[in-house]
Amino acid sequence: MTAPGQDRPAVVVIGASRGIGKAIADVAARDGAPVVLVARSAETLATAADDIRKAGGEAYTLSLDLLAENAAGGVDDFLSANGLFCDVLVNSAGFGLRGGAAVLPLEEQLGLVDLNIRALTELTLRLLPGMVARRRGGVINLGSVASFTPGPYMALYYASKGFVRSFSEALHQELRRTGVTVTCVAPGPVATEFLSTSGANRVALFKILPKLEPGYVAERAWRGFKAGRRLVIPGLSAKLTILLATLVPSAIMLPLIGRLQRRSKDPCPCGSGRSYTACCGARGSSRDISTQSG
Ligand SMILES: NC(=O)c1ccc[n+]([C@@H]2O[C@H](COP(=O)([O-])OP(=O)(O)OC[C@H]3O[C@@H](n4cnc5c(N)ncnc54)[C@H](OP(=O)(O)O)[C@@H]3O)[C@@H](O)[C@H]2O)c1
Repeated sequence: MTAPGQDRPAVVVIGASRGIGKAIADVAARDGAPVVLVARSAETLATAADDIRKAGGEAYTLSLDLLAENAAGGVDDFLSANGLFCDVLVNSAGFGLRGGAAVLPLEEQLGLVDLNIRALTELTLRLLPGMVARRRGGVINLGSVASFTPGPYMALYYASKGFVRSFSEALHQELRRTGVTVTCVAPGPVATEFLSTSGANRVALFKILPKLEPGYVAERAWRGFKAGRRLVIPGLSAKLTILLATLVPSAIMLPLIGRLQRRSKDPCPCGSGRSYTACCGARGSSRDISTQSG
């Protein structure tokens, strides 16, 4: 433990055991920063930390479930116990759920809100005042191209990313001239476990769109943050997707996304227990919700 005031700056990566978070931790460590890797799985965290140490970096691991009570307080305690302070916070823990909001399990959907929104917000708000007082550092929040439009059949995921982008961009503006940067990163599909755990890899939209490598997204995110950018959109396909999402009217965009994110065998959102195509989606059905807009 170091004397008070002697603590060293660290990059704290939430969701660092794999995927984009792990890749950002690798890039930050290569840049010379001690990194604190946070996620639930102790084993995968240990492997990620070993990779960083083998490459000459300094890594600490904290196994923590962000959905547990006072998890954010656990991050503070860990930093103090190791003579570190959070110079840069990277919020990369998050998950998606695909399916009709009316039929997906309520607890899982509220868990998504707790992780993608509440945990990210609490960590950001807890750690920002210290950054502002020191007039350095900042936050990298993982948004998504999904933050630019509502997303039928992944409704809560898209909405959570809309929150992340709005919150991050507003903070960026508020903190101009304080020496603190808040950057939102908005990638399209990235080749990580997210695509299978969310079920996104089973629908047409995610099959059509090209997948980026996590290392590429991480390099862009870190470089953009260091340059003080408000929003980082890695890759041409993500930029084009966002352009489309902002130019095409919702009356066209929402049925299109709904169609591309729905599977014919999905349970019907009306709760009948039958498949969508055999129920409300049947041709000529008076309950054909796929053509409703607004
Ligand atoms: N992959 C994509 O296509 C894509 C596209 C756009 C945006 N994003 C966003 O980018 C971020 C990272 O996604 P990814 O693709 O890297 O996903 P991923 O490969 O599934 O990694 C998610 C990370 O979050 C951790 N995590 C999950 N639940 C947690 C909890 N309750 N407490 C603590 N840690 C938890 C996981 O580790 P443990 O399981 O060990 O806890 C893992 O380290 C997410 O916010 C995602 O929405 C992803």
